[in-house]
Amino acid sequence: MGDRHYFPSKSGPGDDRAWDPYEDATQHLVGLLQMLGVTTVAEVGCGYAGITDTIARALGPSVTIYAIDIDPDAFVRTQERGALPPSVIEVVQDVYQLMLPCKVDAVVCRFFLLDLAEPLEALRAMRNCLRPGGHLILLEPITSTGRVGEHVVAADTTEILHPDIGVRLVDLLEAIGADTIELASCTPIGMGASVVGRYLGAMTGVDPAPTAFVALPTLVSAWGYTTATTNLSTLERSLL
Ligand SMILES: C[S@@+](CC[C@H](N)C(=O)[O-])C[C@H]1O[C@@H](n2cnc3c(N)ncnc32)[C@H](O)[C@@H]1O
Repeated sequence: MGDRHYFPSKSGPGDDRAWDPYEDATQHLVGLLQMLGVTTVAEVGCGYAGITDTIARALGPSVTIYAIDIDPDAFVRTQERGALPPSVIEVVQDVYQLMLPCKVDAVVCRFFLLDLAEPLEALRAMRNCLRPGGHLILLEPITSTGRVGEHVVAADTTEILHPDIGVRLVDLLEAIGADTIELASCTPIGMGASVVGRYLGAMTGVDPAPTAFVALPTLVSAWGYTTATTNLSTLERSLL
């Protein structure tokens, strides 16, 4: 994955979770998964500094989590990164060829679709791993909302293909036939010296002054369920 100048997923030293300024969005995701009563979850594009560990620990050992990434390095554990709970099954796979041992109750991703050449294709593959009525839960940013003071923090558009994909999540979910779509958002703010400012520095190389106002990109959570598991639904065909 390397040190890319984008949001996120470079870890800070030590406990990654202590560095997650999007913790509120993560907790919202956990609450949603608990409310849905899931027993199997696939997290696609999990990376190595993400939310897998938090989700797995919160949901407990009876919930199987397939953590999927195309990059085998995502699963190299270090002392700082620690071992993942045994309920997490690591899978090196390309989302476009996603195949799991069973249909799952929920597929989630965070900071994933924004980098993909074909986000709709990826969502189709993710949908095909869901059991009928299973949920897709997408956490993706509106990168252009990032600020230091009044200045917009520019996205590195050579790395990020869809910097504002957060505003397209409803359309994307509708396009794959998802129903009952709901939305939430999280915009971490803080001063330059706070975890928010340090996170901005780690992600972009922009080091804000200690008392500068910092707003990280808004992270949009969008979720819906789908009864379609294979082939294009009539609804999908009519929308494309
Ligand atoms: C920006 S990181 C996000 C990591 C994590 N979800 C988080 O929120 O911190 C995107 C991840 O998607 C993975 N990825 C990119 N293309 C992929 C693909 N086609 N299939 C599966 N994973 C992919 C990358 O290797 C990387 O780990």
